[in-house]
Amino acid sequence: MRVLVVGSGGREHAIVWAVSRNRDVDKIYAAPGNAGMSGLAECIPIEATDLETLADFARANRVDLTIVGPEAPLALGITDVFAARGLKIFGPGRASAQIESSKVFAKEFMKRHSIPTAQFSAFDSLEESLAFVRKRDGALVIKADGLAAGKGVVIAQNSREAEKALRSMMEDRSLGDAGAKVVIEELLEGPEVSVMALCDGETILPLAPAQDHKRAFDGDRGPNTGGMGAYSPVPVLDPPMMERVYSEILVPTLEGLREEGIPYKGVLYAGLILTGDGPMVLEFNCRLGDPETQAVLPRLDGDLVSLAQACVEGRLSEVALHWKNEACVCVVAASAGYPGRYEKGKSISGLDRIKEHEDVLVFHAGTAFRDAGSGRKEIVTSGGRVLGVAALGKDIETARCRAYQAIKEISFEGIFWRSDIASKR
Ligand code: AMP
Ligand code: GLY
Repeated sequence: MRVLVVGSGGREHAIVWAVSRNRDVDKIYAAPGNAGMSGLAECIPIEATDLETLADFARANRVDLTIVGPEAPLALGITDVFAARGLKIFGPGRASAQIESSKVFAKEFMKRHSIPTAQFSAFDSLEESLAFVRKRDGALVIKADGLAAGKGVVIAQNSREAEKALRSMMEDRSLGDAGAKVVIEELLEGPEVSVMALCDGETILPLAPAQDHKRAFDGDRGPNTGGMGAYSPVPVLDPPMMERVYSEILVPTLEGLREEGIPYKGVLYAGLILTGDGPMVLEFNCRLGDPETQAVLPRLDGDLVSLAQACVEGRLSEVALHWKNEACVCVVAASAGYPGRYEKGKSISGLDRIKEHEDVLVFHAGTAFRDAGSGRKEIVTSGGRVLGVAALGKDIETARCRAYQAIKEISFEGIFWRSDIASKR
């Protein structure tokens, strides 16, 4: 069997790793992939958003299944392009990917189906949005409607800060067209968890929950990032709370999408906040989380390829998920300056030594090969999040200690990581 994985980050490296464990898979392609995946997959230099070229490649190379990592190709309609050519692909179509690609769509959808989420108003006029925030006091959350790579949310402590965020998004177009419309919502409080669920349009099967760490620095300080580390399972999401998430959020979401004529097939990611009034949705994503996937897939006691196939073929009701009785903690090593400007091309050392650590997996994110002369190649940094070190252990504390011991083996100029991943539970 031949599998194509679309994307180039740590999440996609974890997907490639999970796919490689299936004995029926004899060829994995990654487009465009990264240096870490190249041991398991052939990296093909096609961008994740170059949909027609990807479909041509899948056809020409008799790919049996394509798994899409990031949101951008899904929002552009990669699934529709592949399906129109009779190619099997795991991920929602363009219409259902709107659950992530438009916050206004997602919030209005939740309102129509009584799915618990923060109270909100949506605006496409700067003047009206300013009039709205001027009448308020206290904190508000301002969200750009479109995809903004994690930069589209501002927590404004007062109406002055809200006004500044609105002007930046809607007037200065700091996020391009993503900020043409905005959602303004109430600030909620509570621990956040990520619940990713497999969907085949009819059945929804939640994966083990994970918790991300969005801020750049220890103690949840500094700017928001794509995610600096994750762990699974999540003790605060106890079985009764998980039952509420399932019946109050996941099932009504899948049913609502089906009723609206866009049955959802793929991974539905619910970013949740556990408030005093119960679980509420902060955001939906139409894909696996990064770095949540790197903390969840190592715990899967089963085969990702057959799960993805069951989703595509509408057979999810026949499937049961099993998890290892172990925790996983993934710590991300990033380049100095991330999530702002950072330098690339720094030589990475310690990748061989880390292989000696038991129960530790290294998932590359921003890495590339560089010619080191005499036919040798070295691995260098090529992104803000460079790699994630994931460790399994009998409990979260054991996994956490292992991940931190292992990450110390890695070095490159400007390396930094958070030292408190999975320490506040
Ligand atoms: P989002 O992309 O919508 O998940 O927002 C990014 C981050 O902003 C979330 O992970 C939360 O930490 C924070 N956030 C978003 N919406 C709210 C809200 N209504 N109340 C509190 N925090 C929020
Ligand atoms: N870690 C957050 C996300 O994948 O959106």
